[in-house]
Amino acid sequence: MRLRGVLVSTADACAVGCRFCFRADVGRDVLSLEQYARALSRLRELGIDELCLSGGEPTDHPEFRQLVRVAVQFGFRCAVVTAAREGRRLTALAGVAGLLSHVTVSADSREAERLGHTGRTVPSAAAVFEALGHTRASLHVTAYELGEADIDEISAVVTKAGVGLEVSPLLPSRTFRFENPNLQRDLELIEGSLGMSPELRVVVDEYHQWLDSPPKRDCGSERLYLSADGYLRRCPYDTEAQVSVNASRQEISASVRRMLDEPPHTAIGCVAICRPSSAESADEPTEADPAHSRQAEQQMEAAL
Ligand SMILES: C[S@@+](CC[C@H](N)C(=O)[O-])C[C@H]1O[C@@H](n2cnc3c(N)ncnc32)[C@H](O)[C@@H]1O
Repeated sequence: MRLRGVLVSTADACAVGCRFCFRADVGRDVLSLEQYARALSRLRELGIDELCLSGGEPTDHPEFRQLVRVAVQFGFRCAVVTAAREGRRLTALAGVAGLLSHVTVSADSREAERLGHTGRTVPSAAAVFEALGHTRASLHVTAYELGEADIDEISAVVTKAGVGLEVSPLLPSRTFRFENPNLQRDLELIEGSLGMSPELRVVVDEYHQWLDSPPKRDCGSERLYLSADGYLRRCPYDTEAQVSVNASRQEISASVRRMLDEPPHTAIGCVAICRPSSAESADEPTEADPAHSRQAEQQMEAAL
């Protein structure tokens, strides 16, 4: 297996504050530009060229635009997952939209929004797609107790914006474990009205089983995770096997190889996080001039 991408946690704190959030790291760390550039340099040496900025809320990162520019200068296809809707978040996103290979705009079904206090309504996502100025984007809806009104809203937004759609059921997290009594109905609605990727189908088919006793399965993800405090892991949740971006080139390379040879087991949280990345990789790549990338790399190396 070859590693293709890296999921970047830009910050552990998150002002969006979804009550059901399943992210692995919660705290105060904010990824520094220096740690980030060092990580990107090492990752390019390992042949990794796709990057997804997540969080926390990536557009809240004090140097969000720089994170995107640096990624592109290093030759990465840079995607973002965001809850941005308006104000500073949207301005920051729109400012670098042309450099992004993909933008996933997160939204919630009406009941998921009510449950999670997220503020990420489906209709409010329309303004974000307008602000991007391109359609390398998709709407990601976290769904709980889907209704016809949700389906109508979702269809209206993606049809008008001409973007892709991924709907996934609300999944349990470490602080928010529940059985979803309406899962089957939600799934039928998602599949019947909106469609669902085969990979996600596998995840939700096993949903209740995972809650009781997760089957033992090796991680098959093709991307690494960069934590906000500067560690590279195969799985966001697996802090046992991680390497600091400050380690030597040899150490990082050996550790990443070990992570590939001895993959962690898949757990309920990561099975959802590492769901198919096709939405991020299907679009045309952002053009990165190799000479430019090399130059940026040298400048960064010199600065570190
Ligand atoms: C953790 S968020 C971080 C990025 C950004 N703040 C956002 O809201 O998109 C990344 C994605 O995880 C999804 N997510 C978080 N918790 C979830 C859960 N329990 N079940 C399903 N999806 C979840 C969010 O809806 C979002 O699309």
